[in-house]
Amino acid sequence: MDVSIADPATTDRRVDELLRQMTLAEKIGQMSQVNVGDSYIHDYLADGVRDGRVGSVLNVVDVDVVNELQRIAVEETRLRIPLIVGRDVIHGFKTVMPIPLGQAASWNPDIVRQGARVAAREAASTGVNWTFAPMIDISRDPRWGRIAESLGEDPYLASMLGVAMVEGFEGEDLTAHDTIAACAKHFVGYGAVESGRDYATTNIPENELRNVYLPPFKAAVDAGVSTLMTSFSDIDGVPATANEYLVKDILRGEWGFDGFVVSDWDSVRQLEIHGLTANDRESAYEAALAGVDMEMHGDAYARYLAALVEDGQLDEQLIDTAAGNILRIKIRLGLFENPYTDPADFPPIADAHALETAREAALQSVVMLKNDHHVLPLSADKLETLAVIGPLADAPYEQLGTWIFDGDRELSVTPMHAIHSLVHDKVDVRYLRAMETSRSRDTKAFDEAVSIAAESDAVVLFLGEESILSGEAHSRADISLPGAQAELVRRIRETGKPVVAVILAGRPLTLTNVVDQVDAILFAWHPGTMGGPAIADLLFGVGSPSGKLPATFPRMVGQVPIYYNQKNTGKPPSPETVVHIDDIDPHAPQLSLGMTAFHLDAGYLPLFAFGHGLSYASFNYENLTISDTELKPDESLTISVDVTNTSTVAAAEVVQLYVRDLAGNVTRPVRELKGFERVQLMPGEKRTVEFELHTDDLAFYGRRNQLMTEPGDFHVWVGGSSETELGTAFRIVAGA
Ligand code: BGC
Repeated sequence: MDVSIADPATTDRRVDELLRQMTLAEKIGQMSQVNVGDSYIHDYLADGVRDGRVGSVLNVVDVDVVNELQRIAVEETRLRIPLIVGRDVIHGFKTVMPIPLGQAASWNPDIVRQGARVAAREAASTGVNWTFAPMIDISRDPRWGRIAESLGEDPYLASMLGVAMVEGFEGEDLTAHDTIAACAKHFVGYGAVESGRDYATTNIPENELRNVYLPPFKAAVDAGVSTLMTSFSDIDGVPATANEYLVKDILRGEWGFDGFVVSDWDSVRQLEIHGLTANDRESAYEAALAGVDMEMHGDAYARYLAALVEDGQLDEQLIDTAAGNILRIKIRLGLFENPYTDPADFPPIADAHALETAREAALQSVVMLKNDHHVLPLSADKLETLAVIGPLADAPYEQLGTWIFDGDRELSVTPMHAIHSLVHDKVDVRYLRAMETSRSRDTKAFDEAVSIAAESDAVVLFLGEESILSGEAHSRADISLPGAQAELVRRIRETGKPVVAVILAGRPLTLTNVVDQVDAILFAWHPGTMGGPAIADLLFGVGSPSGKLPATFPRMVGQVPIYYNQKNTGKPPSPETVVHIDDIDPHAPQLSLGMTAFHLDAGYLPLFAFGHGLSYASFNYENLTISDTELKPDESLTISVDVTNTSTVAAAEVVQLYVRDLAGNVTRPVRELKGFERVQLMPGEKRTVEFELHTDDLAFYGRRNQLMTEPGDFHVWVGGSSETELGTAFRIVAGA
């Protein structure tokens, strides 16, 4: 999708013209973002805007306040430069979509794009013109609370969906009143924080950085994203906010990014706390030198940049570049022409379209992890009574998930209410919360839960984590179901009734201690405003689950990091080499060990693999064909497969394409996702799905961190998860 912006040459001329007229103080003003917080105008803020000391504000969603601030900016300042108004609109504004990790489970760029479009429209109606999303940090560690905000563990999936979000926020015309600038964050490597502890150190070798962590950012830049945010984290000893190599050399130099870079919240001044600088002045110097154009909520730039220039430490040209980058985006947004917002130009908040988008996104994001004996879908005609039990069945706020500053819990339709309205005329639905929160250890309501379950034909347990347990600064070391939930599951199991678990959570959980205690699991993430109706429809077969895991589910937290696109190692494990700790021969302990890469107490396989997700339908994959078994550099081949819905229900399947480069200049992952397509199939319908693979798609960064495609042998697989075995081979041969 092309983002139509004003002619670049005209924009650059306008930027230069403004810069020529601006004082040093005014340029630095553009580089300063101020937090508004409560929805009133502090005098000092109004004065700051009036004096040209503020280029951007964040955290104001009162349209009258925004318009008044813009009025001051465009009517009372010397150069009439409008403000850019930022807000964290992460997965919805008032209408909340599933958390980004849930959206990623849809593997559907269209629904992700539509969700961002709805969010942009609602946010823009309050005067917001810039969101701090998408977060495209590759996340291989479910302990990290911010995995909820991410698009999962895979560079390709995160790139495709990150681009879809950028397109949704920015639309086809950034000057339109209902589009907002996006911000790809957090540049870069934040997801690799040690032990998943938020804000902790990251150490990422450059080869891994380039092959794994940078690709989604490169994709966002290529898609025209307006801004990037630096990460809080320290990467290989240099915090991202002072990292010249990342910001100047890679982002600007190699990729030619011409939007602007904002720091994270106060992360300029935090350079001192990191131990990189001795004071705020040095912090301002380091961040500005690295190429961070705007300081978010902090005053190091405002206080010290002018002196740094006047004392000859920083070249004013650097300030011109930074201010120019910011002005360029303000021009592209059309803010100079239209700084004001009129809510009457917008459809009502949470209109039917917004709610339908949220419902569809939730429906497509739910992953069915297991479904023994086809216990799902439930049949309203066959059930007389249904027990609905658990702390997250009727929790309107919790289902919204993390980062919902503006999310309206009043709009939430909970699973409990949705189930009731779907089947109340046929089924007697009996609800018990049983636990005050997911963290409760109090089991006193469990007897009642057991008796309700025992009197019912089936039980649906709503388990998981409240929203507070994931998100920023909300990491966990133990990622199993918290509190007494496992005990509740065990007690309900004893009734012998069919038990379905619907799990709402902000991350992959370790479900090892409950997985065998339930017949079916729907993993619903935090599904947002319309999570309830989506879940009810899936439980009763109005729709079929079609989500696929965007991140691996470990058996035990000690396996983390565990991800599908790992390296092979020199001693890869196999079922034959794995020995369990309980099976070590006491008489010949050494002989029984497999000498391969596994854990004695966990093996090497995850509980649920990347790409896994079941359906009420069954799909048959056959006739895998490849247009050529050899190709030269800069050529493509086509891989096609017939997918048939062999069941009696209509359903969607996400067809996935994986590749392995067998021998590389650097070791290559055992599998890498290279394509996917969500197809809707009627009962009995067969569809040929085609993937085109160009040699550029097989390029990687080699030993000298140069992008390369090598001749050699490749395997390719197609199927419904990363574990598919349906495969063939091809070879890249040297060019003529
Ligand atoms: C987060 C950012 C966010 C910013 C503004 C920070 O704490 O790391 O992702 O955009 O706050 O709210």
